[in-house]
Amino acid sequence: MYAPEKILDNKYFESIVDTNDEWIVSRTGIRERRMMENGATSDMAVKAIEDLLATTKVDPKDIDVIIVATVTPDMFFPATACLVQEKIGATKAWGFDLSAACSGFLFALQTGASLVETGKYKKVIVVGSDKMTAITDYTDRNNCILFGDAASAVLLEPTEDFRYGIKDSLLYIDGAGKDSLNMKGGGSLNPPSHETVDKKMHYIYQDGKAVFKVAVKGMADISYEIMQKNNLKGEDVAYLVPHQANLRIIDATAQRMGISKEKVMVNIDRYGNTTAATIPLCLTEYYRAGKVKKGDNLILAAFGAGYTWGSIYLTWSMD
Ligand code: COA
Repeated sequence: MYAPEKILDNKYFESIVDTNDEWIVSRTGIRERRMMENGATSDMAVKAIEDLLATTKVDPKDIDVIIVATVTPDMFFPATACLVQEKIGATKAWGFDLSAACSGFLFALQTGASLVETGKYKKVIVVGSDKMTAITDYTDRNNCILFGDAASAVLLEPTEDFRYGIKDSLLYIDGAGKDSLNMKGGGSLNPPSHETVDKKMHYIYQDGKAVFKVAVKGMADISYEIMQKNNLKGEDVAYLVPHQANLRIIDATAQRMGISKEKVMVNIDRYGNTTAATIPLCLTEYYRAGKVKKGDNLILAAFGAGYTWGSIYLTWSMD
């Protein structure tokens, strides 16, 4: 994982917009988030992958595929995956960027797993990396307090021991959500111009209340659905690993699943919403703290712009 050093705490936001620490903590659960001062999404992805390769002792030359989940690519093209590939020296890899906002890591994980299942690819890297501060309007108190920058990566490999690995997924999109959460400027619909800049169209637009309502229901329902489908009860699940957008959404999801707070991975207080990075960031921190053990059943769940949402059921395979 990689989280930039610079911290923006709630006190900082008190100095730039009309807000306060108490409001932010009680409404979102966020106390601080990180900001990448120099560098781009690919630089954070590279640092996360270097950490991953050092941990797994994998040579970059052995990587087959790199999937970068992001909504803040360095550029429209080439894909961030190409920039990452060159920087880490993954000389035989191919890859691509995947855009599914806060569900990006889940969509990329299922895509990577499907590539491994073909039998053709043995080492697939899935990295969630987002420099949300690059598209955040720091005069908009509704949104600027929510987002931060980070990257985190996982390595997918084949196994013949079917007790472990990715066991099921439920993934959905619904374009009816396009007006509630988006960045309108810069694409082919609204190519960049003085007007798009004046209208702040290169920043995140979010109708927080509308998104909150569907996110609570979407994430809670999908997590419950995957448990039902796989005959899992609360006690069968070691951890819920939810996308970190708002602590109240996370709490509602855990409640619906019938699992206690101790079994929910949470680090939103320290990183805010890092979009595609939140879930692998949680996985890495909990794994490194010795809290995730081989054989643990995890339910990953996310909801994001699009709308996009989904859940993945997996059994952790690392010692
Ligand atoms: N500080 C102080 N007050 C703020 C504020 C801030 N940073 N941001 C908004 N407010 C105000 C609002 O203007 C509103 O005031 P008003 O009633 O006078 O208009 C008031 O707080 C209440 O806003 P409300 O919308 O009811 O709060 P909320 O409980 O919905 O929380 C969010 C706001 C943004 C935290 C919440 O809606 C949210 O988390 N939404 C979804 C975010 C999300 O999940 N996004 C990504 C999808 S993955």
